[in-house]
Amino acid sequence: MIKNILIITGFSLALGLASTATAGSWNACNPCSMKANPCNPCAMEKQDKMNPCQMKMKNPCHMNPCDADGDAKKKIRSDKFQSFQQAATAGKKLWEDETLGKSGLACLSCHAGYENLNLGKRQNYPHYVAMPDDVVTLDQMINFCMINPMEGEQLDANSKDMTAMAAYFRAYRMQYLKEQRK
Ligand code: HEC
Repeated sequence: MIKNILIITGFSLALGLASTATAGSWNACNPCSMKANPCNPCAMEKQDKMNPCQMKMKNPCHMNPCDADGDAKKKIRSDKFQSFQQAATAGKKLWEDETLGKSGLACLSCHAGYENLNLGKRQNYPHYVAMPDDVVTLDQMINFCMINPMEGEQLDANSKDMTAMAAYFRAYRMQYLKEQRK
């Protein structure tokens, strides 16, 4: 392993030297350059004064997309979740709620015991689902079940309820996979 790293390091050094040797055509500001690039805004180097994502730097223009406290950030909603677990817990309540739509059913009326979720296969969304006869994202599938079997209203794409529904789906699937491994 260490030997490999040494070989790779030696190899990259050799490459580095080679490209400096042909520096005539090497562009220090080439955004595709693999070397430490003084013009690369995403360079990970510490103390890079040109890096807009540098956490220590206060951005005078309040336009730093990486600044967690930036007051110029547009929000998708006013309220937020503190953790995935919090979202999944809120989601579980929704999946059990028989009053979400007019049908008197809860999501888990049809999906208890991991039923009808095809959890074992092709779980990367978007994918084709027979019931809507379409290729859908997870959120779209949640909304499809909201307005069809549940006879309810679509959830807003940016709502906490939508995030909660999707979070519980993921938690539920992780639980399923864990049980499969036993
Ligand atoms: C009356 C029964 C019923 C209810 C109630 C219901 N669903 Fe479904 N749902 C189904 C069936 C049946 C499928 C399987 C579709 C298929 O494989 O064609 C499905 C599929 C899904 C899928 C996609 C699975 C996949 O293959 O990727 C998701 C996600 C889903 N439901 C979420 C929900 C949520 C969230 C709720 C509650 C808001 C809900 N469902 C309520 C019957 C129901």
